[in-house]
Amino acid sequence: MGLRSDIIAIKGKDPAATSTLSILLTSSGMHAVWIYRLSHLYWKMHLKLLARITSNLGRFLTGVEIHPAAVIGKNFLIDHGTGTVIGETTIIGNNVLIYHQVTLGGTGNESGIKRHPSLCDGVMVAAGAKILGDIKIGANARVGANAVVLSDVPSNATAVGMPARIIMNENTKEEDCSLMSKV
Ligand SMILES: CC(C)(COP(=O)(O)OP(=O)(O)OC[C@H]1O[C@@H](n2cnc3c(N)ncnc32)[C@H](O)[C@@H]1OP(=O)(O)O)[C@@H](O)C(=O)NCCC(=O)NCCS
Repeated sequence: MGLRSDIIAIKGKDPAATSTLSILLTSSGMHAVWIYRLSHLYWKMHLKLLARITSNLGRFLTGVEIHPAAVIGKNFLIDHGTGTVIGETTIIGNNVLIYHQVTLGGTGNESGIKRHPSLCDGVMVAAGAKILGDIKIGANARVGANAVVLSDVPSNATAVGMPARIIMNENTKEEDCSLMSKV
């Protein structure tokens, strides 16, 4: 289940996390991801009530709510985590980092099956950001603290503010990160 790579990812991205033992015992964001993986396994086995109960237990223990149907790649790191909510049809690629109070949710106006965002590989979502609707955040893009993102963000760009404005740089480009293959 990638537990070892989770610990290596935390050591690489969180300067406060140095000891493996301390990470194992105290990293609630990592615990939330592990509980999600169990609930996702139950979801795929069509044990949906058990999946929801496991997910709810994860929320009780860590303050992070991840719907068991969400699809999440490798080395996913939630730093701090309290108050973070990840919706049912969210898709997250590899090596993604998100902080506390982040919502990957719906706008409330969606009518299709996919209501939540897709985050490509290497995305960073800062504390308090809300990413709403079936939109795509391109590879290695960054979403600033407290941003409210309502439309696609190109790869390598930064989105800040409410509603978010896009700050381009020389590496910014549209790109298909083929996340749908993870569904
Ligand atoms: C998004 C972020 C990574 C951008 O960093 P950056 O690329 O170095 O961006 P800059 O600081 O050069 O700012 C670029 C512009 O965006 C603005 N900006 C940056 N972050 C912003 C934010 N969160 N909200 C609104 N505007 C923001 C700056 O004022 C600047 O505007 P200007 O071009 O009009 O002067 C960073 O600002 C951020 O939000 N970090 C939060 C990380 C976090 O969650 N930490 C919690 C740890 S517990």
